[in-house]
Amino acid sequence: MGSAFDRSPEQQALIADWAPPEIDTTKPHSARMYDYFLDGKTNFPVDRLAAEQTLAAVPHARTAARANRAFMLRAVDRLARLGVRQFLDIGTGIPIEGRNTHDAAQQVTSDARVVYVDNDPIVLAHARALLSSHPDGATAYIDADVHDPDAILADPSLTETLDLDRPLALLMIAILHFVPDEDKPTDVLRRLTDRIPSGSYLALSHLTGDFDPVTTTGGVAAYRRAGIRMQVRSRAEVAALVPDGWELLEPGVELVSHWHPESEADLPDPATVGCYGLLARKR
Ligand SMILES: C[S@@+](CC[C@H](N)C(=O)[O-])C[C@H]1O[C@@H](n2cnc3c(N)ncnc32)[C@H](O)[C@@H]1O
Repeated sequence: MGSAFDRSPEQQALIADWAPPEIDTTKPHSARMYDYFLDGKTNFPVDRLAAEQTLAAVPHARTAARANRAFMLRAVDRLARLGVRQFLDIGTGIPIEGRNTHDAAQQVTSDARVVYVDNDPIVLAHARALLSSHPDGATAYIDADVHDPDAILADPSLTETLDLDRPLALLMIAILHFVPDEDKPTDVLRRLTDRIPSGSYLALSHLTGDFDPVTTTGGVAAYRRAGIRMQVRSRAEVAALVPDGWELLEPGVELVSHWHPESEADLPDPATVGCYGLLARKR
């Protein structure tokens, strides 16, 4: 019996039989480690080793990854129901069949348009799965780094797909903990949000050590040993990422599992989630 996180046979064949030369299989990558936590098959031995070392430090990492992806899908569903028709999803991750931004948005409104952005070549190799838009809507993929917002916003794939003069939803889901303070994440966000109009939304999720600091420190160290810079942030630090002129929507900065949950029953122990989510709106 397959799980909701299974990949399509086409994706599995791609990763089993062939890795494009631009994919470095000697170093762990965050997208492929996340894929491993979600029981995906799009990862290599080096990613599995780094992910297992993270799991040794943070045994609940899979719970956190699942809660985060579920938050993303609930946030996109909510945004589509609020009338959002355009989405810019930065830090897309490896596609999961039927559980991507355009799947959730186009389930509500078939004309939703989504631009995906990631800097990992493995996501690029799977971008075709992200481009399976409903014919009423559209999707596009940009291979770019979040540290260069100007390049993202000027990319023809973006300007041909999204109208930057009309409100859109910017998704920054589980990416900004890979942008440490020395890279000025607030500047990165401001440069993105300055260019989008009032009435736009920001959906963001971010790892935190607020609920289990010792374990989280071990997880950050495991990522660093794998060569991936990571910085977790407190509730106040995550709230401070929201640019001036944006209002936080209910319930504010909340654990992803507790943010408008489908059911109040069986909510996980906060210490096993360790990831905040939020929705904000530009005034
Ligand atoms: C933890 S995954 C999150 C995937 C998806 N947003 C989700 O929450 O399910 C983080 C993603 O951010 C991407 N990423 C990390 N650093 C990045 C950067 N500097 N620029 C663009 N993407 C980046 C990784 O390649 C990975 O696909």
